[in-house]
Amino acid sequence: MELDSLENFERTHDCGQLQLTDTGKEIVIMGWVARRRDLGHLIFIDLRDRGGITQVLFNPEQSLEVHQKAKQLRSEYVIAVRGRVLKRQAETVNPSISTGEIEILASSLLILNDSETPPFPIEDDTAISDDLRLKFRYLDLRRSKLHRNFKLRHKITMAIRNFLDKQKFYEIETPFLTKSTPEGARDFLVPSRLHSGSFYALPQSPQLFKQLLMVAGMDRYFQIVRCFRDEDLRADRQPEFTQIDIEMSFVQPEKIFKIVEPLMTEIFAVTGVKIKTPFPCLSYEEALDRYGTDKPDTRFGLELIDFSSTLSGTDFPPFQNTLKEGGLIKGLRVPGCAIYSRKQIDELTATAKVFGAETLAYIKVVDSEIQSPLLKKLGENYCRNIVVKAEAKHGDLILLVSGSKEIVSDSLSAVRLHLGKKEKLQDPKATNFLWITKFPMFQFDSHEKRFVACHHPFTSPVEEDIDKINSNPTVVRAKAYDLVLNGVEIGGGSIRIHRQDIQSRVFKALSINKEEALSRFGFFLKALQYGVPPHGGIALGLDRIVMLLTGEDSIRDVIAFPKTARAFDMMADCPTPVEQRQLDDLEIQVQNK
Ligand code: AMO
Repeated sequence: MELDSLENFERTHDCGQLQLTDTGKEIVIMGWVARRRDLGHLIFIDLRDRGGITQVLFNPEQSLEVHQKAKQLRSEYVIAVRGRVLKRQAETVNPSISTGEIEILASSLLILNDSETPPFPIEDDTAISDDLRLKFRYLDLRRSKLHRNFKLRHKITMAIRNFLDKQKFYEIETPFLTKSTPEGARDFLVPSRLHSGSFYALPQSPQLFKQLLMVAGMDRYFQIVRCFRDEDLRADRQPEFTQIDIEMSFVQPEKIFKIVEPLMTEIFAVTGVKIKTPFPCLSYEEALDRYGTDKPDTRFGLELIDFSSTLSGTDFPPFQNTLKEGGLIKGLRVPGCAIYSRKQIDELTATAKVFGAETLAYIKVVDSEIQSPLLKKLGENYCRNIVVKAEAKHGDLILLVSGSKEIVSDSLSAVRLHLGKKEKLQDPKATNFLWITKFPMFQFDSHEKRFVACHHPFTSPVEEDIDKINSNPTVVRAKAYDLVLNGVEIGGGSIRIHRQDIQSRVFKALSINKEEALSRFGFFLKALQYGVPPHGGIALGLDRIVMLLTGEDSIRDVIAFPKTARAFDMMADCPTPVEQRQLDDLEIQVQNK
């Protein structure tokens, strides 16, 4: 087929623009053939571009030649159409598209390119496999839903830049070829040709650089920056993702909150959603106690209840042993769910077991009667005490887990979320923001047999805990905070250590000796000697925020070219082995396992 060139055609409108008020106008639109209906006498084309869809009509009475040419059109051909805007007949109006009241009567047609038949139809609701979508991502991205997502992502980044510029932040880029940063995941390494045997690491975050910019007196920094982490992937994790990275000098956590809250207000305003500020705050300890997790979805209640003291005297061996070993017995009261069947309870039990619970005990309250396998094992009195403690009423279901603090928290938190979804307790329109504060500073790594930093080793402890850094590290709390939205962690940050004496004490608690500290962070520790201002910051996960705002379930739908769960690029087909010549340049030998 002979293809046309653009000649003097100039686009006047996009395919989502034309309205009834444009009737009679001569226009030029361009795009892809989304659908073609050949009724013999008349040919209809749905023409698609990023603006939307416009119906084009080819009528032989208008031009026989153009009508003949339109017969060649197939899906995804690229065309330009000149024509006149007509009002559609009332019975052919299509209310589901923005241009549904008009159509274009074509007077000229350019076929700019043809196309193979695409491997799947370019429609919003097609059940195609994720792998096929990713392999042909450029076609997948033609879908209007994804166009909407990327338009919104663009508007959000513009809103962020505008807001932070007004707040006197400088946008500064930091290196991608750098040294390992302290975020705790595995690094992606880049071998150096000029320094054979040595490697750069791609940054897991610009953490140290943004702190150095505070040492440099930049005062307020931000960057919308790609970060790289080699970690296990899930719906809200990609190996490369984007942070809104922020750092400020002379601040306490409250000042960071006062920047982030109006920033989130601006971001949500892009979609017309009003949010309430200030956001509520919960300490890490309280979040764990009430919800079993440091990222609770607070759109619904179902808070955890501690039955440990209620059951302190029991001789029922599983509960007795748990309490003797310093564990806990906690549970949930689920209103109206006493009607749950054996199968439904088994489903909840399976959820709890994934997180290490041995089982999930239950009590049903029906009228004033208790129905439970625990009646025989625990006795009626203890069962009644549980009901009283839970303030359970007729129709309620009580669920209990016993075990270590970690198992009880993790499994009940998972059961709570499962119930939230099943019972439709999460209002999809709600925007429940929450600050989680005062994280523990250290945790004991039983594998490495030493304390490790929960956040990173440059996080400041809260003032009142400083004197316990070396004597009792487990109780030291950090000036670290996370931002949670509807149960998703969308940001994390901290106030940093700016004094060398405190930094040394933290390294000591982490069993990082001078040599190790110097080899890992020497350049950074050197900078701490030259007048560091008190400073702190935060990084917000842009992909997760856009995911929540678009209502998508995965950040893949808001990243143009994402990887699979196995960190594979289906389209570019990578990672791949490289040529021997490239390996030789780098003096690298690959060991085939
Ligand atoms: P943190 O590691 O908490 O903090 O990361 C900040 C936010 O980045 C998002 N995020 C991710 N998003 C998608 N895929 C991933 N693999 C991924 N990992 C993290 C989350 C998270 O809350 N340097 C510190 C920030 C600071 O202290 O200022 C940092 O990177 O939304």
